[in-house]
Amino acid sequence: MHHTPPSEHSDLVTSSLPWSPKNNRRVTFNAYGGPEVISVVTEPAVASPGKGMARIRVMASSLVFTDMLIRRNLYPMLKTLPGETLGYDVVGHVEALGPETTGPAPGTLVATLTQVGGAQDWVNLPAASLVPLPGHLDPIKVEPLILSYMTAYQGLFREAGVSAGAHILVIAATGAVGLAALDLARALGLRATGVASSRRKALVEQMAADFIAYDAPDFSRRIDLAAAQQGGFAVILDGASHEPLPTHLRRLTRGGHYVGFGLTALLRRAGADAKGLRLIFGRLRLGMKVLRILATRLRNPNVHFYDIAGRRKAHPDWFREDLTTLATLLADGRIAPHISGVFPPERAAEAHRLIEDGSVVGRLVLDLRGSGVLP
Ligand SMILES: NC(=O)c1ccc[n+]([C@@H]2O[C@H](COP(=O)([O-])OP(=O)(O)OC[C@H]3O[C@@H](n4cnc5c(N)ncnc54)[C@H](OP(=O)(O)O)[C@@H]3O)[C@@H](O)[C@H]2O)c1
Repeated sequence: MHHTPPSEHSDLVTSSLPWSPKNNRRVTFNAYGGPEVISVVTEPAVASPGKGMARIRVMASSLVFTDMLIRRNLYPMLKTLPGETLGYDVVGHVEALGPETTGPAPGTLVATLTQVGGAQDWVNLPAASLVPLPGHLDPIKVEPLILSYMTAYQGLFREAGVSAGAHILVIAATGAVGLAALDLARALGLRATGVASSRRKALVEQMAADFIAYDAPDFSRRIDLAAAQQGGFAVILDGASHEPLPTHLRRLTRGGHYVGFGLTALLRRAGADAKGLRLIFGRLRLGMKVLRILATRLRNPNVHFYDIAGRRKAHPDWFREDLTTLATLLADGRIAPHISGVFPPERAAEAHRLIEDGSVVGRLVLDLRGSGVLP
């Protein structure tokens, strides 16, 4: 494995210790703001795990839209402070278990959701939260399963309970979750229509889905028409929140489900770099949108707002079972995460810039294999 001191990569690195394989690099942010607030801090590796905990040598973590929301203090689901380590999830090897702790044996490949704290070389996590995975899987390919594929999978199968043969509409179809949904639809026998900008037509069609461009002047009518042609969509999986909820509801089959999970269109419209009052109004609008969906759910149980962390808290067994299912689909070659870039921590700010530009297709992955030693 090639080990390069972080300081040779970029001037964004603030290293308080000379680099050594046992130092812990972590991706953090110094203040709420743009990609320029990201830095990599090098500190002594984490302490021994306490009771109930396991020390993980991390191989890969997230570089996703949600990390950007956390860094900008725009994430409605979690309050974080500058200085916190980014990283919504973790794939790695168990290195040590705490005293009197039962968990996957040292050396086991595991994955879990962290929301923050995953983007570092070593991390101590509750042993009970770790999902063991087949050791031969590539950690870089596993990483998109934890947040992106899980959101698509649980949105479709846990929230909406969709069955094979059903026709689904995926909005924000070439983002991390959207492409995962199209991949899963293809693997599990669903028909799909994907919505993204016109530049993404070929990609959506390659995923065996019909395509509708949200930047076409009559796009709303086109979706209405597509819905009418097949008697409605069984599920609308919406990562953009571009159109009002009632518009979506009229496009569903009787008994069909609307599953909102993201607010990308609202955020792009607000401008990610909004400051002061604009930022406050932006946060309020996002919060209101989520509340509106949740309020509609009181009257219509087929309307959902999917929140991965809340879902895992309520059903840790589903999370474990579904991640195992996704890993099996990956091991069998039935799904193939679309990874358009792999970045070491020293280049995390560059990856965040691409995410903010809206230029990422599918997923970027943070690669932590390049330092430290495997157990
Ligand atoms: N609730 C949860 O548990 C959960 C889990 C994961 C993610 N999320 C959230 O889900 C959202 C999507 O995240 P992501 O990482 O999958 O992708 P993303 O990068 O935020 O979304 C990119 C996709 O959205 C499309 N898009 C942009 N504006 C649109 C519009 N007005 N109408 C329709 N599509 C539009 C883009 O098309 P073009 O590129 O062609 O413009 C692209 O296909 C984010 O808000 C994220 O925070 C939530």
